This record gives sequence, C-alpha cells and structure tokens, in this order.
Amino acid sequence: MRSSRQPCVPLRPHRPCYPPRMDAFADIETTELRPETKRRLATMASEGRFKGVFQPGSAGLPPLLVGRQDQANRINELLDDLLGPPAASRTIHAVTLHGPRGAGKTVLLDIVKRALGPNNSEGIGIILLEGTDLPTPAPLLDAVLAQVPPSTTRTNARTGGVGLGLAQVRASTSETRHGGSASHGLLKDALRHHAQVRSQRPLFVVDEAHAASPDALGVMLNSLQALNGEGTPCGAILAGTPDLISVLRRAEATWYLDRNREARLVPVGSIGNTDCALAIGAPLDAMGIEYSQSALMEAVRWCSGNPYFTQALGAAALEVAAGNADRKADFGEGAAVSERFRSLARGRYNEAWQNLDELGLTGCARQLGALWRWAEAAQGLPFNSRMVQSAVNSGVRNPPLDFKPTLSEQEAHTHFQHLGLLWSPSASPEGPWQLALPSFFDFVEERYRDPRWHHYNKTLDALIEDQPSFIPEDDPDDALDDSSSP
Ligand SMILES: Nc1ncnc2c1ncn2[C@@H]1O[C@H](COP(=O)(O)OP(=O)(O)OP(=O)(O)O)[C@@H](O)[C@H]1O
Ligand SMILES: [Mg+2]
Repeated sequence: MRSSRQPCVPLRPHRPCYPPRMDAFADIETTELRPETKRRLATMASEGRFKGVFQPGSAGLPPLLVGRQDQANRINELLDDLLGPPAASRTIHAVTLHGPRGAGKTVLLDIVKRALGPNNSEGIGIILLEGTDLPTPAPLLDAVLAQVPPSTTRTNARTGGVGLGLAQVRASTSETRHGGSASHGLLKDALRHHAQVRSQRPLFVVDEAHAASPDALGVMLNSLQALNGEGTPCGAILAGTPDLISVLRRAEATWYLDRNREARLVPVGSIGNTDCALAIGAPLDAMGIEYSQSALMEAVRWCSGNPYFTQALGAAALEVAAGNADRKADFGEGAAVSERFRSLARGRYNEAWQNLDELGLTGCARQLGALWRWAEAAQGLPFNSRMVQSAVNSGVRNPPLDFKPTLSEQEAHTHFQHLGLLWSPSASPEGPWQLALPSFFDFVEERYRDPRWHHYNKTLDALIEDQPSFIPEDDPDDALDDSSSP
C-alpha cells in the first residue's frame, strides 16, 4: 500500500529512519493542488457546484493544507518511533498539539485518522476520544476495551507484573464506573491486551483534550510511559486550546512537561500571509475564478494568519463569484466579497463574545485589546505575564453594568486560554503571550464604543482610566523585563 502513495511534496527532511516509514501526510496537498484535484474542482465549477470547496466552520480538510510542515514532521516522527523497535529507555510516544481556535489542530488529527483507519496496514490501532469524554479516567478503559473482542480472556503472563485477565479488567472497569478511580495499572493491562489481541500498537488520539480532567490525562500518560518502558510500544496525540498546557500541569505527570518538552509540545499557530493567499488562490484558480493577485494579498490580512479565516474568505469569494456571470471575485475593501467575509467573521466573533459575556469577562477582553494595540504601536512587542494578568485583573474589577464576574482573576486568565483567545506559543507560564485573534479584540472595542451597547459603553471611561495599571508609561523595553512576574 505504501508504495502506491504519491507524496505531492516531500514534507519531511531526510533523516535516518528504520523501516517501516510512516508518512500520514503523504496524500495531503500542501503547496500545490494535484492534477486530479484541479480536475475535480474544474468539474465542480462547470457543473455550478461552488459549495463545500472551502471548509469554514468545520474541521473538514481544506483543499490545500498550508504552512504545517513542522507539525507534519513531528507527527510523522512520532508514528515512526511508535512503529520502531520497542524503546530501550523509558520513552513516551506522546505529542501535544496546542494552539488557538481555528488554527487547524483537528485537521491534523483527521489526517492521522485517515491514514490509520480501522483497516490500516501500518500496525497502529487508534483509540479516538474527545476531552469531554474524559471527566474521569474510567472512560479510557472503556475506550480501549471496546476495541478488543469480548471473548478474549487471556491473562498476560509474558510481561509479568500485574497480569490481570481481560475479564478482570472489564470487571474493574465497571467498578471504576461506579465510583472507584482507574489506576494506571488497570489501563496498562487493558492496553497490553489491546496490543496483543489486535497485533497493533495502540495510539490514543484525543481532540479537545483541554476539556479532559487532569486525572484522566495523568493516568493516560503514566500508563503509556510505564508500558513503553516495559517494551510494549503505545502512544498518544493530544490536541487542544492553550489551556491544555495548564491541564497537563495539573495532571500527576509533571515529568511529561518537564522533560524533553521541545519534542513533546507542538504549537499550532498562525500561518503567513503568503500561505494564506495560496490556500485561497489555488482552489479559485482551479475553478476558473478570476481575481487580482495583489488585491488578494491585501485581503488576506483580514485573516490575521488564522486558517479558519482563510476558509471563510475563500468561501466568501466563491459564493460571490458564483453569482456573477463573469465569475470574478473582487477582493477590494467594501466589495461584496469583503462584506460576505465580514458577516462570516462576525458570526465567529459573536460566538466568542457570548462565551465571555456569560461570565462577565468582556471587560477583560477590552483591556487585553488595549494592551495589544499598545504593544503593536511599540513595534509588535510581545506581552509578558505580568502585563496580561494585570489587564485581565482590570477587566474583572470593571465588569459591564449589572454583571458580576463569577471567576477569580486567575480563573479569568485561564478562561481566555480555554477559549483559545490567549496563547503562549512556547507553552511557558511566563509567556510571552499573544492574542490569538486580534480582530476579535477590535470587534470588542467597537461594541464598547457603541452607545447602543449601553451596558458596556457606560463602563468604557472607567476601563480607559484603569489602563495605566497594565500599560506602562515608561520605556516599552523596561516594561518587558518580566523579572517581577509571578
Ligand atoms: N493548514 C491549513 N491550511 C488551510 N486551511 C486550514 C489549515 N488548517 C486548518 N484549516 C481550516 O481551518 C478550519 C479550522 O481548522 P480546525 O477545525 O482543524 O481548527 P482547530 O484548531 O481544531 O479549531 P478549534 O480549536 O476551534 O477546534 C477548518 O475548516 C480547516 O479546513
Ligand atoms: Mg478542533
């Protein structure tokens, strides 16, 4: 099977590797559409089918996956290592993809899922989970056992140690579900059975992992670590918003973040403007849509490097062009494409606004936006933790009229990470921090300045007066000295 794959662009640098070599991204178009995709899009255009090409609002695979070479390399390396000889040392095969909303974490997991479907010949058995499935560790056991035929009751003598039979593991699972806690010993047994019965190496694939409990992630990581140390290769790919790092920090597996963190933590952040333009322009070209390249290069700035927004802009352009007899897309400011795009973007902003508003945190967003604009004006300086926390604190102190924030200042900070609006690409609690979607914070500013949004507008003066509590008046370079951060 592997030999029939036609990688369109080699995603990986050459590196020594034992066979078999896994390339989950081999069939994924990254810098150019393949001839068959171009033909498919041209046929769709000739039949008047313009919907479903771009993928805003879902985790559908985009026509062109741009700017993800590093992430693809890291995932392929993990799969290679998992398929390689059992590690002599206690190595864990687990990577964590972390990044803002809409950056493309789920798409990367979907590519792994496609490459490793149930009947894959690679020898990896994937166990799919969502973070919300894991309020406790027990569902981990359920998920593993669900993939093992129920008739199997062998005990594991070969690896010694705990050596529970599958029937016993199942029994413990139901006990666990009724109030007990799943130990990593139980999960180890279940995984060992899974590996033996299926002759596959188990790989957890967990999306939205920031919604999992620290307990569940701790049990998972400790089991994987122990099993790999015993010579049973198994692994995990976790993906979630920036809050996932704090959840991992609270898991009883601190070694996971302490050691070898560069290899384990994979940031999935913004993509460059040229890549954004490619993700939009190549499918439009294939569909015979006319547009000005320079206008597109200007328009991609509206996307702030967020992959979700490239799909929204592409979809807006196709929608407008499909309604034009001459099949043209005008990317100019104020033209129909920009209007359609802005309405799609507003939908996304409204969602984020509501998530904050429920908790009385829109004032924090207003203050973070003010901080961001200050930093931009000071040549795009990154923010440190002290500045970010002070801006959030100021928002908590100055909530909208009649709102009472229910979260503490620290919880409010974490909540922005949970929503994927605030991000430290280095995954360090000290930052530097970035606002994940600066245009959302412009939207917040507009609301606060609009007198029709009375409850918010009435507090704007107080928020502005409070700015010196987080925007330094002295030299910006001094402000970045983070020595006093917590
Ligand atoms: N590298 C990329 N190039 C082009 N489009 C992309 C890329 N990555 C993701 N997309 C598109 O962006 C949209 C958002 O991607 P995805 O749902 O994977 O993001 P996410 O990080 O999982 O977001 P969330 O945190 O909201 O779950 C999808 O519609 C996808 O098609
Ligand atoms: Mg996702």
